[in-house]
Amino acid sequence: MSKQVQYRSAYRAPVFTIDTVDLHLKLDEQATEVTATLTVRRLAEGPLVLDGEQLELVSVQVNGVVLSPADYQLSERQLQLNNCPDVAEVVIVNRINPSANSALEGLYKSGGAFCTQCEAEGFRRITYYLDRPDVLAVFTTTIEADARYTSLLSNGNLEAEGALDNGRHFAKWHDPHPKPAYLFALVAGDFDRLEDHFTTMEGREVLLELFVDKGNLSRAHYAMGALKRAMKWDEERFGLAYDLDRYMIVAVDFFNMGAMENKGLNIFNSKYVLADQQSATDWDFIHVESVIGHEYFHNWTGNRITCRDWFQLSLKEGLTVFRDQEFSADLGSRAVHRIDAIRVMRSHQFSEDASPMAHPIRPDKVVEMNNFYTVTVYNKGAEVIRMLHTLLGEQGFQAGMQLYRQRHDGQAVTCEDFVVAMEDANQRDLTQFRRWYSQAGTPEVRIEEQYDAERQVLKLKLTQQVPPTPEQPDKEAMVLPLLLSAYSETGQPMTLAHAAIQPHADSGSALLELTTSELTLEIEGVRERPVVAWLENFSAPVKLYRTTDVHDYAVLLGHAAQEVTRWEAAQQIYLSALQTAVKTEQEVTLPEVAIKALRQALAAPLDNALKALIFTPPSAEELAEYYPDAIPLAAIERAVKSLASCLAEALRDDFSTEFTKLAPAEEDLSGTAMAARALQQRCLYYLTLAAPTQYTAVLRERVLTAQNMTVQQHALETAVHLEVPEAKELLEAFAQQWQATPLALDKWFAIQATSVTDHTVAEVERLAQHAWFDLGYPNRVYALVASFCRNSLRFHQADGAGYRFVLTIIKQLNTVNPQVAARLVTPFLQWRRYDAKRQQLLRDCLVELRGIEKLAPDLEEKISHALDL
Ligand code: TRP
Ligand code: ZN
Repeated sequence: MSKQVQYRSAYRAPVFTIDTVDLHLKLDEQATEVTATLTVRRLAEGPLVLDGEQLELVSVQVNGVVLSPADYQLSERQLQLNNCPDVAEVVIVNRINPSANSALEGLYKSGGAFCTQCEAEGFRRITYYLDRPDVLAVFTTTIEADARYTSLLSNGNLEAEGALDNGRHFAKWHDPHPKPAYLFALVAGDFDRLEDHFTTMEGREVLLELFVDKGNLSRAHYAMGALKRAMKWDEERFGLAYDLDRYMIVAVDFFNMGAMENKGLNIFNSKYVLADQQSATDWDFIHVESVIGHEYFHNWTGNRITCRDWFQLSLKEGLTVFRDQEFSADLGSRAVHRIDAIRVMRSHQFSEDASPMAHPIRPDKVVEMNNFYTVTVYNKGAEVIRMLHTLLGEQGFQAGMQLYRQRHDGQAVTCEDFVVAMEDANQRDLTQFRRWYSQAGTPEVRIEEQYDAERQVLKLKLTQQVPPTPEQPDKEAMVLPLLLSAYSETGQPMTLAHAAIQPHADSGSALLELTTSELTLEIEGVRERPVVAWLENFSAPVKLYRTTDVHDYAVLLGHAAQEVTRWEAAQQIYLSALQTAVKTEQEVTLPEVAIKALRQALAAPLDNALKALIFTPPSAEELAEYYPDAIPLAAIERAVKSLASCLAEALRDDFSTEFTKLAPAEEDLSGTAMAARALQQRCLYYLTLAAPTQYTAVLRERVLTAQNMTVQQHALETAVHLEVPEAKELLEAFAQQWQATPLALDKWFAIQATSVTDHTVAEVERLAQHAWFDLGYPNRVYALVASFCRNSLRFHQADGAGYRFVLTIIKQLNTVNPQVAARLVTPFLQWRRYDAKRQQLLRDCLVELRGIEKLAPDLEEKISHALDL
């Protein structure tokens, strides 16, 4: 039976709610017995319909009376009790098989440990339940297991533990905070444990515990530090303190996503916990900190105040991503973190907006909820929160947060409730702003400037347009907060005096709110032609089109007050050079002013991490989004490569000077050292490109002897991607060194999957047969297959071999792990954007997939969107 479409508009309050749940699990590899005692209470007319999937029902009791099968209806996804009293105690016994659960949803084995993943709808794979986020219950959980599972963990506080017969033992947990089932968690395993403490601003002593696989304790310290920083930051910036006496984090290898915010018991992909300087890159450390923060911040935005239904997912995810971004920005370089977020939007989110799966941050229509944990819901959702922050200011935003919390603590609410709280706390009408929640697609903004020197008038014409997306052919104008600054041609700040342009206290820029589809302004008293930086800080998630001279970008690159604006100026210089090269099919050339400005930026007293980003041009993915109809694949790749060579040639001596100057100590994990490493690597990349023979020795030395993964992995990647003769030898050495460390081995797979040689596809096929490859281990699948999908030239290879490879993997994953399968099918969905031959090949793959037996709803939903069924 295929899964049905759910509509946001069809929301109905539940017929019953559940006040308390008493769960008793007798853990066993193949046959875990679950007894759930539910106190149910009627809210409306109708039967009690419990969700349940892949469960073996043993018995049902209502108020002490065992029901016979005639008293209930059991189907593949539901258990229906027709005559349930208004208040009743329902006791259900069922069995599940954790070892057979490779989908990693519900209760499963990760390596040697039992663990759970219940968001979004995984609890129904543990027992029959009202598995929806607006049913909030108090959970008591008793876990019984063999004594070799030394740690038995669940949400809340430990109430009892002890030994049982037959070498088994038990633990009983109680979580006083009512919660939806998706926040339930259970873990049983034998771990190494790291302990720490935190005293909240309210004086609560919190025990912090981090559980990792045996032998990994030394790699858990950084995560613990990050947790304490997150707790402190949330108190200081948002006035929010932790609310239980215990906070536990368990790291597991087998996990579909990054991490999960289960109340008091977070479960993490070990990738976002385990990090030491030898095995993790600086990038990994930064992600560990931000994911630890993200899950911790959910305790308020998600757990205390949760979602009424899954269409509201961005209520917790957009807001929590915004919060984790601010956490990283406050603790590190604000500009560098912002640029990172902008790049994610421009490469991944814009591409989702342009695909058949485009959806608003609050979707209207869902088949498989797991398909909606997207960059749109998360990252564009965070941009929408950020726009509110820009419009209301930090103070107004925090006032809104406070009101939101006062009104809704302990409730399951909607995005609308959040917006109303922001409105009420600020006496502001956000009617039009709400379109950000309902309209999909990336708005396009066009700006024309005309300076009349004689009259000293600057004429502006701004237009906006939101392109059609599936089921939304016509769009209305959005509220676009545009931050901007103006400079003279010598880089002196200028003020544009106009009623529509207001100073913006938080940022130091000016703010123009574009709310109509067209706006013309005449600004008077402008003494010279201004160089305007538009959309500073990427203040709205839009594509901006304007014709600006490279000279103006050179001014901004050299003089803009804001670091993000300097970076953006460089990006625009690159972008226009790339677009010209794509159009003319010629090599990239950069005008002398651009080279000069870039050279000065490299030598300027700027943050090294910012410089590294200034010398990171737009990726092929990002560039592709400027070709909405047909992506000129080969021309884009050629242009991107050619730009890199052009920079390498033009600035070779400058890169060399910087490279020698930078000497971060390998064990130094400070922001300064990370920044130095980032720039040093950029330089080394260009230097190797310009003079491979000269720098191969440097790469070789780094791969073979570096005690720092940032240095080692980058050197290996450069050696492999630039195809230096030693590449093979170095890959082997790396594999030897790291064969027992899965997270490091993932890097080895990813580097090979992203190389572009004639035999890449064959290599990748061979790697998929390698003993180290495991379809059941999502990190490895992503390292090899998702990385390969990003390898445009090879994935889209003209003979279709790249497509066939990924197709084969997806077919296998359809039964092993549909969530992961559905993530890998994404690049096929955009088949309409390629040439006729590739269209045919991609479409054939989708059609073939659609025909396989027992196609998972995750895949079915995406494929039918892509094929327009
Ligand atoms: N709520 C999690 C987060 O963003 C997301 C998540 C973790 C998830 N595991 C999942 C979503 C599995 C769907 C399925 O922090
Ligand atoms: Zn989240």
